Amino acid sequence: MNTKEIIQKTDECVLGTYTRLPLAIKKGEGVFVYSPEGKKYLDFFAGLAVDNLGHGHSRILKALNEQAQKLIHVSNLMYTEEQANLAEKLVSLSGLSKVFLCNSGTESLEAALKLARYSSIKAKGSNAYEIIACEDSFHGRSLGALSATMQEKYQTGFGPLVPGFVKAPYNDCPALETLVTKNTAAILLEPIQGEGGVRIPHPDYLTQVRKLCDDKKIYFILDEVQTGIGRTGSLFAYEKNYEKNAMKPDILCLAKGLGSGFPIGATLVNKNIADSITPGTHASTFGGNALASRIALETLNIISQKSFLLDVEKKGLYFLEGLKKIQKKKPLLKEIRGMGLMVAIELNEARGKEIVQKCLEKGLIINTIQNKILRFVPPLIVETTHIDEALDILNQVL
Ligand SMILES: Cc1ncc(COP(=O)(O)O)c(C=O)c1O
Repeated sequence: MNTKEIIQKTDECVLGTYTRLPLAIKKGEGVFVYSPEGKKYLDFFAGLAVDNLGHGHSRILKALNEQAQKLIHVSNLMYTEEQANLAEKLVSLSGLSKVFLCNSGTESLEAALKLARYSSIKAKGSNAYEIIACEDSFHGRSLGALSATMQEKYQTGFGPLVPGFVKAPYNDCPALETLVTKNTAAILLEPIQGEGGVRIPHPDYLTQVRKLCDDKKIYFILDEVQTGIGRTGSLFAYEKNYEKNAMKPDILCLAKGLGSGFPIGATLVNKNIADSITPGTHASTFGGNALASRIALETLNIISQKSFLLDVEKKGLYFLEGLKKIQKKKPLLKEIRGMGLMVAIELNEARGKEIVQKCLEKGLIINTIQNKILRFVPPLIVETTHIDEALDILNQVL
């Protein structure tokens, strides 16, 4: 099928929940994707911060092929070596106690919310179920995750939402403190707000929130669905600028980059929560099946290498420097910000969609948030020559 036919059939038969680019993709290779007509695009979107190892990475393909021949799925009523190995790796890399495996970011959040409530209610009584979440957050579209997603545009039309969610400003620990009550179970936030516009809090924010949670004996849930798995130049964003064990959440949510494009999510919890969980409290039919686990383990084996992460950090700085040079000549660019390869330009005018379209015409895929922010989340294997190419296209378009 050609692009036109694919778009037509999709729009006829797939529920219209998405605003799509007028673009069909047939093939991917490294940091490039190709349309059915053979047009080549430099992919600085990476399937929405998912394809951290790019497209068709040889080690991921090998793991996928070998595992698919051997075993794909048996359910969580049995054990597999692949799930055991992935769980051991996640526990050892995060320093948390145990993991619940699922299939997406939303599900990893849904598990986090349920497990925090369950453990808190068990310890402190039936009213201790409130979860404080932040303005402009994004945690997913199921009713629980949506109730924690503090953006009106996503919540409108779906009420009544799940009760027990309290809204706090982001990047303001004193404000959080005023909202903690005896009914608070947890504080939930993203280390960098992705869908909220790549908003980076001040460097002490996470440690302050950690201390607040310790003082008030409530759980700290970090949603690293977008920031995790190397995106910011460390395996988890919470490790950035912090001594690993000085700043650790009680619950950590992962998805996106974990499966190199294969659907998988994970919710890691501390020992206290792990000990409060009994069989039957939560479940997922597909979660952590043999194929997903094998691919995720191979992904982690590659991305968790110090040299790989250091390289992400360096390339992120290189990209930021390049963008700042462009900013000097272009008054449309209000602010450049980023950490590792999670980078954004805030515009002075709402012209994001126009810029995305023009970049597309020139063979570069990027993304806009709220039409005012350009977001760049290229595969972590991107090279400086690709970054130069993207900078050149952006410069022309701007
Ligand atoms: C921070 C964050 N949490 C949760 C989600 C939901 O993940 P998914 O779309 O895989 O359900 C997203 C998706 O963009 C996200 O960015």
